[in-house]
Amino acid sequence: GARDYLVPSRLHPGEFYALPQSPQLYKQLLMVSGFDRYFQIARCLRDEDLRADRQPEFTQIDAELSFVTEEDIFRVGEGMIAALWREILGVELATPFPRLTYREAMERYGTDKPDLRFGMEFQDVTDLLREAEFRLFQETRGTAVRIKGIRAPGGGAALSRKELDELAAVARAAGAAGALWVRRTDEGLAGQFAKALDEGLTERFIAATGLEPGDLFVVVIGHYRVLSLVDESHLGATEDVYHVGGAEAALDALRRHLGDRLGLRDPGVHRWAWITEFPLFDWDIEAKRLVAAHHPFTMPHPDDLPTLLRYTEEGAMDLAMARALFQEGIRARAYDAVYNGNEMASGSIRIHDPALQRRVFRALGIGEREAEEKFGFLLEAFRYGAPPHGGFAFGVDRLIMLLVGAASLRDVIAFPKTTAARALFEGAPAPVGPAELRDLHIAVVNDQGVDERSGA
Ligand code: AMO
Repeated sequence: GARDYLVPSRLHPGEFYALPQSPQLYKQLLMVSGFDRYFQIARCLRDEDLRADRQPEFTQIDAELSFVTEEDIFRVGEGMIAALWREILGVELATPFPRLTYREAMERYGTDKPDLRFGMEFQDVTDLLREAEFRLFQETRGTAVRIKGIRAPGGGAALSRKELDELAAVARAAGAAGALWVRRTDEGLAGQFAKALDEGLTERFIAATGLEPGDLFVVVIGHYRVLSLVDESHLGATEDVYHVGGAEAALDALRRHLGDRLGLRDPGVHRWAWITEFPLFDWDIEAKRLVAAHHPFTMPHPDDLPTLLRYTEEGAMDLAMARALFQEGIRARAYDAVYNGNEMASGSIRIHDPALQRRVFRALGIGEREAEEKFGFLLEAFRYGAPPHGGFAFGVDRLIMLLVGAASLRDVIAFPKTTAARALFEGAPAPVGPAELRDLHIAVVNDQGVDERSGA
């Protein structure tokens, strides 16, 4: 999702350095050359859209290990975190951290960085609610659209009518068409679709959802990616279905919103977990192509390897093949560490076989020539026999932000950039004079390609 920051070379006209987005390839080369453990506190630079938890210049605790599996790496990562939490906060974290596959996380919480301080897991009530006398529910019959909801304990009693009406806006802001709610009262059900359920259905709905008097149940109707990824294609669904958005993101937003409102996101509670088996590929909707979900050096999941190899046997990928490959849902040996709903670290087991690396490049539409040009040094290194290896990077700034309870990275970085990527104190970025530009062999041109100073 990020671009390189480029630095023009003075000594080599027309050539550029790229500031490192991470030390990824260097640490892999270190493993290949025989260092079997490495760590670095690394400064990283990325040209990307900024948010409260993203700065263009940030710091990672970056590690790589040879001859390891995921479990060895998790032990190192959680050992470090447990030590930090003990020494800085005086909090004893339970290790090992829970492990959750990406698929489980998406099905249960609709996000790959679930806040595990509270339950409110997604419940699929499609089959039940399709029976109700309610147009929006009945329209889902014979389609891949699902009706999922969450039970907010005590939410029906705690939220005012105005707050209940605002739930639809929360869902809309996250990309869904809206949300619908009912609450359980002493008499039965009340709320937006309560009347559409007859006595028998009401009873079955209450039993299935575990709704207690005073509880709230909110549903979002829509496309949920994980469960319906493959069958969507037969139903002629549009491409944005493949985007995690809409229903999943909306119900996740409602879950976090209700968690806040009901005081379930207590800063004194610390819940870490590893999310495993991330997808190997993502679909870039605009460019209509496969992209690496983590990075192109990530090892595919062994169970999905035969499928990947089948698709990449020979020749180039066309659009239809790339899309079909995406729909196969190939998993990766990639993982994240999440803490109270925040992504704190990412990592993976890497590919160490040049032939497999070429297959993944092929899947990503990176041809032999381009692969050789861009990553020749890595492929060359692999040819000498690389040890199996893997690692992770934790975001230091994010760790500090959450350790001190700050709401933005800007609060814990001495001279942060604004969300428009400006440094206000020193006034960067700034124009430079013609002599400096000449030294660097570059000209600044406008969108029409015209140098505004010289008019050429
Ligand atoms: P990734 O790109 O996921 O992985 O980054 C790892 C961690 O770095 C932090 N982070 C950031 N913090 C502040 N501002 C940013 N712009 C920013 N971007 C990332 C996050 C994130 O979890 N080379 C791989 C790691 C690996 O595979 O070993 C990598 O960089 O906390």
